[in-house]
Amino acid sequence: MGAYRVAVFASGQGSNFQALADAAAEGRLGGAEIGLLVCDKPAAPVVGRAQATGIECYTFQPKDYAVREDYERELVALLHEKEIDLVVLAGYMRLLSSVMVEAFTGRLINIHPSLLPAFPGKDAIGQALQYGVKLSGVTVHFVDGGMDTGPIIAQRAVPVAEEATQESLTAAIQAEERTLYPEVVSWFAEERVKLEGRKVTVIRR
Ligand code: GRF
Repeated sequence: MGAYRVAVFASGQGSNFQALADAAAEGRLGGAEIGLLVCDKPAAPVVGRAQATGIECYTFQPKDYAVREDYERELVALLHEKEIDLVVLAGYMRLLSSVMVEAFTGRLINIHPSLLPAFPGKDAIGQALQYGVKLSGVTVHFVDGGMDTGPIIAQRAVPVAEEATQESLTAAIQAEERTLYPEVVSWFAEERVKLEGRKVTVIRR
């Protein structure tokens, strides 16, 4: 059996992609390798990061397709061809259709910058500040057909200081993301994640 292979989907800066690539290079990803970056914005900074790390990158433009299902069918074929075991969304700013979700059920995860189910969707950090919560954080969850609604795999809390700003809370949350996401991916590579209904169990070593 070959190495456990991960594809990362991203649309923007790629700080999580970088953290995962660094973890793989340093042997902190449970033996997993990042086999592919998929990006829906060819000019996004994350594309340059993939080039710098030598990770294969596939870019496409959703506007070139009539419907989402059309490009997702191509993506599923590509992921199978590249023998991808786990799809990791890291700032991929598009909802997935059932084409992707059903092809990778139980093998498709996302990271979200709040303690779900609080503040799903866009600008979770702004929503949390606006609401005035004292504690926010990071959630890694399975992806289902909804917006940030899938079973929760791991969460880390981040306190919201009284003087917190969008920038300071974003920095604190992203620092937590960069350690949590590689850890969760290593659990998958080590086959330690079990899903029953909505309940996720991580088998201890
Ligand atoms: C992260 O904060 C992640 O939680 C959210 O989008 C952001 C992506 O940041 N889903 P980056 O592109 O990984 O730097």
